[in-house]
Formats: sequence, C-alpha cells, structure tokens
Amino acid sequence: MCGIIAYSGHRPAVPVIIQGLKSLEYRGYDSSGLAFVHLNRIHLFRASGKLEALEARLDSGHVIHATSGIGHTRWATHGLPNEQNAHPHLDVNSDLALVHNGIIENFQELKDMLSGQGCTFRSETDTEVLVCLISFGLSQKGDLRQAVSWALSQVEGSYAFAMISRHHPGTVWAARQASPLIFGLGTGENFIASDIPAFLPFTRDVVFLEDNELVEMTPEKWTVFNARTLEPIEKKTQTISWDVQAARKGGYKHFMLKEIFEQPKVIRDCLAGRIQRHKNSISLPEIKDLPIPSRLHIIACGTSYHAGLWGKYLLEALAGIPVDVEIASEFRYKPLVPEKDKVYLTISQSGETADTLAALRLVREHGFPVLGLCNVVGSSLAREADHVIYTQAGPEISVASTKAMCSQLVLIFLLALYWAEKKRLLTGKDLENAITTLLSLPEALELELPDMRDRAASICKEYSNAQSFFFLGRGLFYPLALEGALKLKEISYIHAEGYAAGELKHGPIALIDPEFPTFAIAPCDGLLGKVKSNLKEIQARKGRIIALTQPGSGLMVDNEWKIPGQEGPASTFFILPALQLFAYETAVYLGKDVDQPRNLAKSVTVE
Ligand code: G6P
Repeated sequence: MCGIIAYSGHRPAVPVIIQGLKSLEYRGYDSSGLAFVHLNRIHLFRASGKLEALEARLDSGHVIHATSGIGHTRWATHGLPNEQNAHPHLDVNSDLALVHNGIIENFQELKDMLSGQGCTFRSETDTEVLVCLISFGLSQKGDLRQAVSWALSQVEGSYAFAMISRHHPGTVWAARQASPLIFGLGTGENFIASDIPAFLPFTRDVVFLEDNELVEMTPEKWTVFNARTLEPIEKKTQTISWDVQAARKGGYKHFMLKEIFEQPKVIRDCLAGRIQRHKNSISLPEIKDLPIPSRLHIIACGTSYHAGLWGKYLLEALAGIPVDVEIASEFRYKPLVPEKDKVYLTISQSGETADTLAALRLVREHGFPVLGLCNVVGSSLAREADHVIYTQAGPEISVASTKAMCSQLVLIFLLALYWAEKKRLLTGKDLENAITTLLSLPEALELELPDMRDRAASICKEYSNAQSFFFLGRGLFYPLALEGALKLKEISYIHAEGYAAGELKHGPIALIDPEFPTFAIAPCDGLLGKVKSNLKEIQARKGRIIALTQPGSGLMVDNEWKIPGQEGPASTFFILPALQLFAYETAVYLGKDVDQPRNLAKSVTVE
C-alpha cells in the first residue's frame, strides 16, 4: 500500500511530487523518496520517516531544474522501513530509477538469474530486482519500451510502477498489474499516481489504467500500450467531480466502506508469494526456523482477539494443534503456567496495543518463543516478537477494523495449512482443493460485494429501531458472531451481544421478544440443523431473525440473506464482509460518525 506519483510537464517537478506525496501519506509514510534527471544524471533523494525528512534532504541546486520525475511514499510490507529500502531504486548502472507498489512474487528466482549475469544489488527489495530486470532487458533488446514489455512478461505478482531513464529526460513509463494506477491529463503536463488525490489540484481529467497496460508519457504526449504486444490501446478519459476528501476515500463515502471493499485485494496480497501452486504447497519463510508447536496460545485484543478465536477452530481442526485463546488484558495479570513446547501467537493490527505488548513481554521474560501476526511493519510487536508474519493489509484508517481482520484470517488459514502439511495431516488433494479455493476467493468476493452492500442497506432499515441485538453462530462462525456484534455496537451504538447459538437457552433467551432481533450466521455446514433448532426457539418467543445463509438451507426466517455457497472456512470471507456491511449501513442510516466513533481509538496504547 505505497503511494506513487510521477510528473512530466512544464512546472518544477519536485514541488509537484512533494505535494502529491503529501496527499498520498494516508496510504503509508514510513519512508519516502523521489528521483529526477538533470544534466544526464539521475538525482535520487530518499529518507526514512515522514515526508519532512525527505524535504530536508533536497538539495535546491539541482532540484529547481527538474520538470519531470517520480516519487514514492512507502508503507512497508517486506523489509524494514529504512532509507536503503526506500524507493526509488536504481538499476546497476544508475540509468533507470523506479518506484513500485505491490509484490513481485518470483523476485528471488529473478534475482538469482540476474546475479548469474553479474548484476549486484544494493537493497533486499523486490523493486530493485524489477528495475534491474528492465535494465537487463534493455541490454538485450536495445529499446526501453520493449525491455519493459519483456521484463513484465517475466514477473509474477502484483505491481504498479513508474520509471524514468537518464537517457530520456521528460519521459515516464508506468504499468500496472492488480495494483491501482491512474493517469492524469493536463495541458502540457501529465501525471501518473496510485491515487487521484496526488494530482487533483492540477487536473480532474483521468484515465484509469488496467492490468497489462503500459503507459509512456511526456509533457505533450501519452500512449497506452498492451504491455505484451505493444499494440496501442484507445482509452477513455473521465472527468472526476470528487473533492480531495472524497478522492482520498477513493470515491467511497467513508474509509470503513473503502476498506471493506478492499478485502478482495487484501486476500490477494496475503496469498501473494505464500502459495506455491506448482509444488502444491504453502510457503511461510518467516517461520521456517520455528518448530511445529505442540500447543499454541493466542493472545490479542478486540477484533484481533476474534480472529484468534476463529483461528482456534481452524488450527485444531486442520493442524491438530491444541489452541488456547486469551484476551491480552486478562492474560497479563495471571500466573503464567509453563508448558513445554508451547508457542505464543500475538495478533495485532497496529502492533502497538499496550495490553498485547505487555503480554508478549511477559511471555518472552519466561523464555517462550513468540510469533507475531501484525500489519504494521517495524511496530513494537514486530520488533519484539521472535518471529513475525506481516498481514500486508495496508494502512487501516477507519477505527472499526475490517480489512485487517480479513488479512489475519487469511494468514491463520495459511498457518493451519502450513503446519497441517508439515505434519502430513492433509492429502495432496485436500491441500490442492484448499489452495484452489483460497485463490478463487478474491474474484468471487469482488463480484459479490456490491450486492451484499445493497442487501445490508435494505435489511438494516427494518431493524434500525432495535435497542439490542443478538448475533449467533456455531463452530467457526461463533467468533464471527462476536465480531458482528462488536462492529454493530462500535459504530451504530446499538447494544449487541455475540453468542454461541447453543448457549442462548442458558439465560440470554429470556430477553427475546418482538423488539429484540437476532442476526444468525447459518451457512450450510454440518451444524446447520443445530442452528435451525436454536432459531426455532427464538421464533417460538416471537423474536425476529435475519439469517446469513447459503442456497438450499431451507431456513424460514424474517430476512434470509443468501451468500455464495462456499464450503467450510472459505465461507468466512463472505460472512465477515456481510456483517461489516450490516453494521456500516445501520450506522449510516442512523447518521453516526462511521470512521471515528465516539469514545474509541484506533490504537489503544494505554492500559
Ligand atoms: C482498538 C481498536 C480495535 C482493535 C483493537 C486491537 O480497540 O478500536 O478495532 O481491534 O484495538 O487492536 P490491534 O491493533 O492490537 O489489533
């Protein structure tokens, strides 16, 4: 989730790039950099930390002359947020400079090939491999456009990049694959950025680039090519009417909605490089030195705790590892019972939650290994854990966590498969099926989300007067019921409780009446019959029911909400956004401040 801007025009480029980067800072800001060509040489400036650090480095002598260049603000997904890893990256001859957003999955393979050709590398990034690959292509083909096309045919993964060459001042090349890139058209100037706000003060005329497209731009001219065949492509120009705030939200009304809709991409990014299709295997190099745990203890807070609870069901079922899950603020004040070969897994989006960090430190003081699952690279949790797996969801801005949980669940799913594979608990066919299902999720979810939103918006109106809600689920879907209830109370302020469906009869059912609705999670799994009986008990007390279910469930409830018929844990990735959208649409309908709900903080760094 980095920010990219490229400019070619008649203005001094550096202030345009800096302004663009400032408006992209919400995408991440742990390091930044820019490059331009002046006097037949690439000038490169990079700094870790916020943009001011980069501005302080700029040497005004050369900076004023440049009228084209590229810039980048980084939100690290791999590698520390330091200057060496900051973009732009140069090829080995310092002829080309490139900024990149995304993940080159086969970068190690390409790096080995290039090393064999005598190429040396200055950083550990996949981006440097890409620019060196283009440079190698240039040495073979003699033409930069062809070199880029050839290099792109070699890389696997997702990318959006912009590149300049010291031999072609004023020209910028850019291409994308599964990462956004937008082209902005001015008069005598053109822009490329990962997000519209970067150039919105200069132009509202845009062209949305698609996968497998390559753009070449100068101040006066731009052409979009098919990246493989290099045939020119006709593109439609659109005029954007959004203001800057709306543009930061990608045209969505709230960050929360944007982040819910980003989940297909989040799943894609989490899987990138972690599934070896040809070997039918899961790859998690981050934990290659960690022995398979005989017991696992998960510690987390809030939504991350719910992800942990969901993980318990999956890790036990697939990998046969007994799992305890505890809220960090409880765990830290209890005596720690030492158990041999136990591994602690701390889960945190921010990596800065005080209780989770305190629990992690306590565990390490007792000499137990800690594996961290975390979204923010370089955060305290990431630095202090013995092993860390990054969830790569990109910055989450809305206080109510959505896409971060989705990424945690994907990673836990991969962990369960990884350990199950190591313990030979799965047949090759089982693993192949699981991999195929995971890889199919992003596209299936992308198709489904708009309808899910409409359904959430229409159902929520009928229930917006409710003072209280139950959310029910069984098995894997019980933790999702807890999360559905948490989302609703966080942003709509309607009281909601998540329950294991079978537990309702032990007290809570006393509350059911026509004014007290229930939201049931009832996919067509082996527990559907049990959930149906629980729902009958509610109907007998005149309780109204919304049921999130799948085709063929045969449920008779007030509002049946059908999601696609994915089997087992994969259905989670449809149920979770449905719950998030229900909370979101309810809060919007009630006029609440969705992105900044009262009394809450995104990262709770106090006890
Ligand atoms: C806060 C946030 C929640 C989040 C929890 C844990 O309460 O409002 O959305 O789930 O902290 O945060 P973490 O960053 O550790 O996942």
